[in-house]
Amino acid sequence: QIYSNFIEDHRWRYLTNGLKVTLEVTFFAVIIGIVLGLLIAVVRSTYVKTGKLKIANFLCGLYITVIRGTPVVVQLLIIYFVVFGSVKIDKVLVAIMAFGLNSGAYVAEIFRSGIMSIDNGQFEAGRSLGFSYWKTMLYIIMPQAFKNVLPALGNEFIVLLKETSVAGYIALEDLTKGGDIIRSRTFSAFFPLITVALIYLIMVTIFTKLVGILERRLRNSDH
Ligand code: ARG
Repeated sequence: QIYSNFIEDHRWRYLTNGLKVTLEVTFFAVIIGIVLGLLIAVVRSTYVKTGKLKIANFLCGLYITVIRGTPVVVQLLIIYFVVFGSVKIDKVLVAIMAFGLNSGAYVAEIFRSGIMSIDNGQFEAGRSLGFSYWKTMLYIIMPQAFKNVLPALGNEFIVLLKETSVAGYIALEDLTKGGDIIRSRTFSAFFPLITVALIYLIMVTIFTKLVGILERRLRNSDH
């Protein structure tokens, strides 16, 4: 009785703390993903356009192939148990790294298609105005590409929000794990798991709406 009261009092804590962890991991992983993805995309499209950065391009291609060719759960386990197997490290940090590294490969492809979608005439215009290749990239191509891929980046946030639910594999208490702990300690599965699902659903619905609004705004500002 005492035990079940204890659980009862603290039940919500597993969900609220878990939600905090989920949002934290998602937020920072998306940032890492965007920075990493941006760098990789620039390297890859520079190689295509100029033939420079051959080795860097090869390494980036390898990274994308490996990350996208293996499940994110396996990557998470490897980073936790192999890479940081012998050091004590915060699991939240491990999750941020794993999901950030994973996201980078997907975001790189988003940015690359964004850069490639900008007409080559924009490059030629920049160069003929006296901009160097990198200045053209930075001041003329990137702003346009970035605008085009904003909705896709919003989508990446939504994907990661759900994808982080596998963080329980390294016993990180995210939202999903929190709900599952309640399930295992109260022996009632329905309530905690449905609640967890609803929390994800509500968040995803809100963010999907926001991405939709953003998309409409960007389209309107084109006219
Ligand atoms: N669930 C798939 C996997 O395990 C896809 C991950 C998608 N990740 C992303 N950052 N978009 O690899």
